Amino acid sequence: MLETRFTQLVKVRFPIVQAGMAGGITTPELVAAVSNAGGLGTIGGGYLTPDQLRESIHRVRELTDRPFAVNLFAPQEPTVSDDEVRAMAAYLDEIRRDLGIKESPSIKKYAESFEEQVEVVIEERVPVFSFTFGIPRAEILDRLREHGSTLIGTATTPREAIALEQCGVDAIVVQGSEAGGHRGTFLEDVERSLIGTMALVPQVVDRVSVPVIASGGIMDGRGLVACLALGAAAVQMGTAFLACPESGAHRLYKQRILQSEDDTTEVTRAYSGKPARGVRTRFMERMRGYSGPIPAYPVQNALTRDIRQEAAKRDDPEYMSLWAGQAHPLATAEPAATIVQRTMEEAAATLRGLLELAGR
Ligand SMILES: Cc1cc2nc3c(=O)[nH]c(=O)nc-3n(C[C@H](O)[C@H](O)[C@H](O)COP(=O)(O)O)c2cc1C
Repeated sequence: MLETRFTQLVKVRFPIVQAGMAGGITTPELVAAVSNAGGLGTIGGGYLTPDQLRESIHRVRELTDRPFAVNLFAPQEPTVSDDEVRAMAAYLDEIRRDLGIKESPSIKKYAESFEEQVEVVIEERVPVFSFTFGIPRAEILDRLREHGSTLIGTATTPREAIALEQCGVDAIVVQGSEAGGHRGTFLEDVERSLIGTMALVPQVVDRVSVPVIASGGIMDGRGLVACLALGAAAVQMGTAFLACPESGAHRLYKQRILQSEDDTTEVTRAYSGKPARGVRTRFMERMRGYSGPIPAYPVQNALTRDIRQEAAKRDDPEYMSLWAGQAHPLATAEPAATIVQRTMEEAAATLRGLLELAGR
């Protein structure tokens, strides 16, 4: 049921992609459960060392023989001055003092090397490679393609989607502004690229010829059918899988997602220097008091890492990053396979309801 250009392209049963969610959420168990259930599971490899990434790929292969994806961040080369870093480090030290954490920790590197991570994807001949935050160099995309990977880029505007198609990607994730986690925006200002899924998907579908994967705010079969109606060939769901038992999210993060009907989300640069949507926290509030520029990603991400890690250790969600999309109150704690199956059943029921509406 619901065979689309996307299911044919990546050879999966259902047009459902579990988003790569970097930061320990997409355990091999989650990725394999989604792939075994007929969707496309994705390892969020953005923060993994090359060795950790290889281990994760091996473990997924032990758990499933179905296609899966690896997702990485296209490399970022921000210009951040030493003064900016020093001022931010001093401000964060106030928070560290309040939390009783060691001040001014030394930072060895800002981010993992994309080149080394991608080498693992090439060597391991991963079936599907997806990326966000930009477009990797043509030579890298060529090598991935030669080694058999289907390529999926991420766009938040029609212009970005066209740029991705011109680079020869096989499919495009179209990320609406409802989406949880980091914005994939890479051509324009993020503030001018906050287009909702409903508005963005049909614009992109009209302008590119590769399959479009809708993402942002899709939590169930209703969302899947709505996106197919807009012309998408699949959906990518992140928040829907956050609280499932296979997800590696912190226990209190899951609890907050499941119990926070009235919690609103907001897009913030506070944690990483790159705009990302998450449930409002005390850390976000305190960072509003900072008057200088927030160092760009990945610098700010590295500067706040110890605070987030310590908060997780101490079970204090107010200083953790609780990335989540606007539809998070619809998340459930069901196993990942149940989420995939239920979404497909709901899609079938929604389609039957629509046919009745049409008088058939
Ligand atoms: C916790 C979390 C982490 C995320 N990490 C990544 C990531 O590493 N790479 C990526 O391409 N997208 C990432 N995203 C964004 C998803 O790919 C997707 O756009 C988003 O989850 C869709 O919106 P939804 O959360 O409403 O389903 C993340 C999303 C969440 C919620």
